[in-house]
Amino acid sequence: MKELMEMVIQFLCARYPNQFYYNEWTGMFHNHILASRSDTRKIRPLVFLLQNVPEDFLIVQKDEKTGLSVLTAGVSCSAVGWNLSLKIGQPLHQIHGPVPFYKEKMSFSMDRSNMPCDKPIQRGSWGLEIGEPLYLQAEDPDFAMRTQQDPQLKVSDISLRVDWQTLRRMPRSQAIVFNFKALFTPLTHFRREPFVPKLLLKVLSEGQKSIMEYKGTWHVEHVVLPALKLWADEQEEHKWVPRDWQVRTLDEDPFYPGWGYNRDYDDDS
Ligand code: HEM
Repeated sequence: MKELMEMVIQFLCARYPNQFYYNEWTGMFHNHILASRSDTRKIRPLVFLLQNVPEDFLIVQKDEKTGLSVLTAGVSCSAVGWNLSLKIGQPLHQIHGPVPFYKEKMSFSMDRSNMPCDKPIQRGSWGLEIGEPLYLQAEDPDFAMRTQQDPQLKVSDISLRVDWQTLRRMPRSQAIVFNFKALFTPLTHFRREPFVPKLLLKVLSEGQKSIMEYKGTWHVEHVVLPALKLWADEQEEHKWVPRDWQVRTLDEDPFYPGWGYNRDYDDDS
């Protein structure tokens, strides 16, 4: 945990030198964004992360008896549909119990992973949400919205949530750090993103049923599918997308062609 805190401090101070400062003589970390200070010689490392980094961190360590990688600690504020208390102490295959195909395709190699320290991994996990829920538990009344298609739901209520995840091994402890940050994009932005409506339409309509069920996209599909169809047709009319385009992952993934232009979004048009 201390090793992770030190790595994060090193990164923050090197990447954002105007916002963060670490005094190596006193061990004080200064966060100029929050106007706060943390005494790194006294603070518990996970509390430090909680107070300074708006991201989740889960720590996985090898159980010497079984050889399996087990979730041993974490700071988690952005979980939807699961929580840390249900997963702590479990090996990876058990943590991923509800995830379709994890057992068949990823479990064996992950549980005995020999990931080198200099080869961190990044991936994105996406879902469609009503509003921008950061932390949502199964017992929350808002979670029940996932079991019905609300006839009052509007396109402007829906957003794409992507959890940008990183996975890296720490050099000293050999623990694996799984980290993620949730980013939301209003669905209406896709109207101006060439190729994206048609691509998402295909994923939602033809994607593996079990994966879509796990992601829980059904509760917004009555609104999302017609909107995407409309925008996909519109983009073909504007000649942003060729009519004969064979739908596939974009070369610019995870962006779209022209994403760097400063587009003037007009969500209500
Ligand atoms: C090693 C640290 C990792 C931890 C602690 C971790 C933890 C989790 C947790 C807590 C969930 C939510 C499960 C639920 O809904 O009950 C999840 C989902 C998932 N994890 Fe992991 N995970 C790790 C690594 C990986 C890796 C390396 C992969 C491989 C590609 C992976 C693939 C997935 C997939 C496919 C899902 C379903 C959601 C999505 O599409 O991302 N995980 N993980």
